[in-house]
Amino acid sequence: MGENIYKPVYSKDTKLVVSDLKVYFPIRRSFIDVLRGKPRLYVKAVDGVSFDVKEGEVFALAGESGCGKTTTGKSILRLNEITEGSIGYLPSKKIENVVKLPMVKKLSEHGHIDLYSIPDKYFKPFRQDIQMIWQDPFGSLNPRRTIFEILEEPLDIHGISSTKEERTEIIAKALEEVKLTPPEEFMWRYPHMLSGGQRQRVVISRALILKPSLVIADEPVSMLDVSIRAEILQLMMDLKKRLGLTYIFITHDLALARYISNRIAVMYLGKIVEMGDARKVVEDPYHPYTKALVEAIPEPDPQRRFIIKELPIKGEVPSPINVPSGCRFHPRCIALDKHPELAELCKTKEPPLIEVAPGRYVACWLYAKK
Ligand SMILES: Nc1ncnc2c1ncn2[C@@H]1O[C@H](COP(=O)(O)OP(=O)(O)O)[C@@H](O)[C@H]1O
Ligand code: SF4
Ligand SMILES: [Mg+2]
Repeated sequence: MGENIYKPVYSKDTKLVVSDLKVYFPIRRSFIDVLRGKPRLYVKAVDGVSFDVKEGEVFALAGESGCGKTTTGKSILRLNEITEGSIGYLPSKKIENVVKLPMVKKLSEHGHIDLYSIPDKYFKPFRQDIQMIWQDPFGSLNPRRTIFEILEEPLDIHGISSTKEERTEIIAKALEEVKLTPPEEFMWRYPHMLSGGQRQRVVISRALILKPSLVIADEPVSMLDVSIRAEILQLMMDLKKRLGLTYIFITHDLALARYISNRIAVMYLGKIVEMGDARKVVEDPYHPYTKALVEAIPEPDPQRRFIIKELPIKGEVPSPINVPSGCRFHPRCIALDKHPELAELCKTKEPPLIEVAPGRYVACWLYAKK
């Protein structure tokens, strides 16, 4: 088999290394099922995912709903148990004393540590250094709290600043940073008194007030009106540049991923099927699934309306409880119509993620050595 199977790289400028991550959620069995000896079933939300993210990079995790993007993001923040694999992280200077603890596992000579080797009680500083921006600006802001209180909470939790004056100053600056100015006009409002775009600015502000170095943005504009998406994305990119952040950008929208990121990993049913330079992946996709996603990207028509296109592939995404054998995409793959000689292999053997051109990786038997 191919010698060029993808392996994530630990280098001095790699911020994060996810290696063979698996997250299986057990499904509850009824008492009767247990008595009948029915085996325990699992939702294989993430099923062997590896990638690395360079410092200062925007790395996109893309793919249809349910393919495991959010679970991958949450695993980095230890918001769910992981079944297998490791997550290596290059901590910023602020958390050096945690890193020195004897039980913390080192994963490279450059200072990467295994996030899952840190005891719970020492993990708090990492929740400051790694922030998540959630999809729904309504759901993620407490409607009974003022913007001031919402932004004060993370400062409280992490014991930042002692006096009210100091906090007011930090909060005012944070609001200015996301262009909610003058800040005193916004501080005392409640979320429902803001527009969707303004609320998402507050969500961004709450993530950045703790001065993180890695931000995981989970579909940060998908709930927003199309007309304000561009300005929120622009704001996020400006902040990234100015504050020297690294982004993992989660989106179901390949066109958006191309626009905003340096590299894209396309996921299907818990696995990465294609990865590489964002522009190249979208302009010249290799994997039959990526090709289908690209074909479905809506193009604006002359009246500037978007034409919604259907995915040009057969059937529905299978359940992650019953992942198809071999290549998990095989029941839907239209490339097999042209390559019937591959059908048996595709049904029985999982294709490895291999390098097919410099920096371009694909998991498909059309490209791998059989
Ligand atoms: N806590 C959980 N318990 C059981 N199944 C879950 C849980 N979280 C996510 N899943 C399932 O895992 C799969 C991947 O979900 P998710 O990571 O949210 O995908 P995405 O963000 O790409 O839409 C889905 O089938 C989802 O229903
Ligand atoms: S491995 Fe086979 S089934 Fe899977 S995408 Fe490639 S050609 Fe299609
Ligand atoms: Mg999601």
